[in-house]
Amino acid sequence: MALTDRYGNPVSTQSRAALENYNAALDLIRLYRGDPVAALDAALAEDPDFGGAWAARAGLLVTATDKAYAEETAKSLRAGAAARLNERERLHLQAAQDWAEGRFIDGTMRYGRIAQENPRDALALQYAHVGCFFVGMQSELRDWPLQALRAFKTGEDGFSYIQGMAAFGLEECGDYARADICGRQAVEADPRDGWAVHAVAHVNEMRGDLDAGIPWLANGAQHWAPDSGFAYHNWWHLALLYLDKGDTAQALALYDEKVRPDVNAQVMLEWIDASALLWRLHLEGADVGARFAQLAACWARAGEDAFYAFNDLHAVMAFLGAGRAADAERTLKAMRSAAADGGDNGHMTRRVGLPLAEAFVAFEAGRYGECVEKIMTTRGVAQRFGGSHAQRDILTLTALHAALRGGFAATAEAIAIERLAHKPQSPWAGRLARRARELSAEQRAA
Ligand SMILES: [Fe+2]
Repeated sequence: MALTDRYGNPVSTQSRAALENYNAALDLIRLYRGDPVAALDAALAEDPDFGGAWAARAGLLVTATDKAYAEETAKSLRAGAAARLNERERLHLQAAQDWAEGRFIDGTMRYGRIAQENPRDALALQYAHVGCFFVGMQSELRDWPLQALRAFKTGEDGFSYIQGMAAFGLEECGDYARADICGRQAVEADPRDGWAVHAVAHVNEMRGDLDAGIPWLANGAQHWAPDSGFAYHNWWHLALLYLDKGDTAQALALYDEKVRPDVNAQVMLEWIDASALLWRLHLEGADVGARFAQLAACWARAGEDAFYAFNDLHAVMAFLGAGRAADAERTLKAMRSAAADGGDNGHMTRRVGLPLAEAFVAFEAGRYGECVEKIMTTRGVAQRFGGSHAQRDILTLTALHAALRGGFAATAEAIAIERLAHKPQSPWAGRLARRARELSAEQRAA
């Protein structure tokens, strides 16, 4: 009889030692903690023919969205194809292959279908969930976890992590009340669950609720931060709330101590948050010192990857902030050639990434009208290049600052009032709305 993983899914290995390491990896993956690749490698050391472990490894690597892992991914895919696989594991491998070959949507759909057919496969669900996030499939981000909950009893191993995914999906679909309840239940079940913590952090961010948001992150950090590979992102959310409050010093302190404690760390997802935080500070006119230069030095190795448009835009921000206009142009050039490609990133780049990157370049060059125009005609479809509402808020902020600087009073007021309507409690929204009204008043008086 086949052995089964911690959720009850049959696996292809006969080695109990391999399975034990694989189950440990599943725990680390759902918690975004420790080194799950090392745990999978330990499983594979026990049984190199364990195809499911190779497939999980490939899935983990492709969802890092960093071309730097291409070789390790290819190695996992090759070894997996030559190993023993059951049907479910074979589909996992195929999904990772889709991702590796740039078919992000196909790969995401395939993981989602595995989870539908095998509702106790929480790993397929998580990879599908992460995929939905990267390709902007918001309904499925919510609905696939909601579907999977049917297969788990409350309190059973795995249940709360699926609740955490459901919470984030609910939040991205605007159902803040249910997201809040679902996320808090998941965190109560396991306070180390950084993803569930994050779902509630998003609810607070979207509501502009600093009174709930700051203590939620700060007080729970003792549980979600240690040994987490995702903590930098929750710290980033906390820094955003301090920025909202107008506390630039605290936002910078969090950047230095928590988001980028090692300025040379080679984690692209961390660079994205770093770019996004520094650019917001830059818009506000804050002095960020040498931070942009340090960050741009990291981005330099990936500036011409044109692997995923969302990342490219964040590289451009770092280059512009560091005054490296020529590097920003190099990224744009790579994006232009990626835009001609028929794959998913080609579409994302053509329709979303490239016009936005051009808008940010225009902002930095003082061509505010062009910046506003390009962002405002792209923002409505920008979810197609992935990221969260909170991350893509940088588009709205940049357009608003461009409108203020360029003297486009009607646009500035429109965007600022929209922001205040969504976040009536947010001090930042209040400050921006005041500035927009002042600009209108000045122009009427002139
Ligand atoms: Fe987030």
